[in-house]
Amino acid sequence: VRVSVYGAGQVGTATARLLAAWPGIGVSGPFGRGQRDEALSSGADAVVIATTSFLDQVAPDIEAAVAGGSNVITTAEEAAYPWHYDAGLAAALDAAARERAVTILGAGLNPGFVFDALVVTALGVVPGGPLGVKVLVERVVDLSGFSRAILRRLGIGYSADEFTAGSADGAITGHIGFPQSMRIVARRIGVRIDRIDRAIEPIIADAAIELPQLTVAAGQSAGFRQRYVAIVGGEPWFEALFTGHISPAAAGHQTRDEILIDGAAGPLHVAINPGINPQAGAPAIVAHSIRRLIDAPPGWLTVADLPPASPGFSIAAAGPQGETS
Ligand SMILES: NC(=O)c1ccc[n+]([C@@H]2O[C@H](COP(=O)([O-])OP(=O)(O)OC[C@H]3O[C@@H](n4cnc5c(N)ncnc54)[C@H](OP(=O)(O)O)[C@@H]3O)[C@@H](O)[C@H]2O)c1
Repeated sequence: VRVSVYGAGQVGTATARLLAAWPGIGVSGPFGRGQRDEALSSGADAVVIATTSFLDQVAPDIEAAVAGGSNVITTAEEAAYPWHYDAGLAAALDAAARERAVTILGAGLNPGFVFDALVVTALGVVPGGPLGVKVLVERVVDLSGFSRAILRRLGIGYSADEFTAGSADGAITGHIGFPQSMRIVARRIGVRIDRIDRAIEPIIADAAIELPQLTVAAGQSAGFRQRYVAIVGGEPWFEALFTGHISPAAAGHQTRDEILIDGAAGPLHVAINPGINPQAGAPAIVAHSIRRLIDAPPGWLTVADLPPASPGFSIAAAGPQGETS
């Protein structure tokens, strides 16, 4: 299996390193901006795109890789459910992928796992049907390992006024991907979302915090809280809470990932303590998705259309049942 990795940042570099250690996988890259053609047009079995979060920015790269006959997996959060922002663009790339008989998948940890794939899995044991449940997912994440570019885009290192202005003009996004996760789950279980409400507020540091890539002064944002609520039939159906901080323990936060589903038989609580490490989890889930990507039917799919990511080879690649046990 030949895999090409575009994006020479944290995720691209770590994913390439993970894949290079596996027998049977040949990795090219990670490639930087200057090596775009080499990265995307080699006709590799799979192209990993780990560059930016935004659908319009990765779309030309996805298009080029699909035209080269490659399956594509991207960590761009907006690509986890591309129909949310641009159904026309999603449909065009879906059609191109079908024509070339390849698959496109947006995947990662969040979106791609905690707020969607894991929720769908947990819903499997909750009686009550799609409309008989209410979902709450909460993550508290240590942001200290992210690159400076990502931290600034998330909203770290701003005064309260700058944070408000940046959130309004789009320079500060907070974590991206909650509407995409909600729509992945909704589509999977057949729920129609009326609208998604959102709010974000900074967590201002009392004292300076120094990271190798960024220093936050007292009075600047060292973290933020986000709340997204998907409304179905006029009622809250799926609530997503996210607290990101560059020094969570010092600020009194314990990292965690929690899913709470309220169903007819009472609540179901899935708790991951401490929360999944983003620097380890994101490259792992991308590397562990190569096989399911290659085995998938053509078109633009979501993580809810596929089996779980897993290390090693899929059942299809392993041969008949029993042969590898
Ligand atoms: N779904 C998920 O759970 C998940 C998980 C992890 C990451 N992500 C997303 O995946 C992306 C990569 O994450 P990361 O941690 O690896 O970020 P990173 O360390 O900042 O690296 C990003 C790399 O991509 C390059 N790049 C940025 N925009 C580009 C563009 N438009 N075209 C080509 N190259 C570009 C950057 O180059 P320059 O330095 O030249 O700008 C940098 O080398 C981010 O947008 C992040 O939010 C999603």
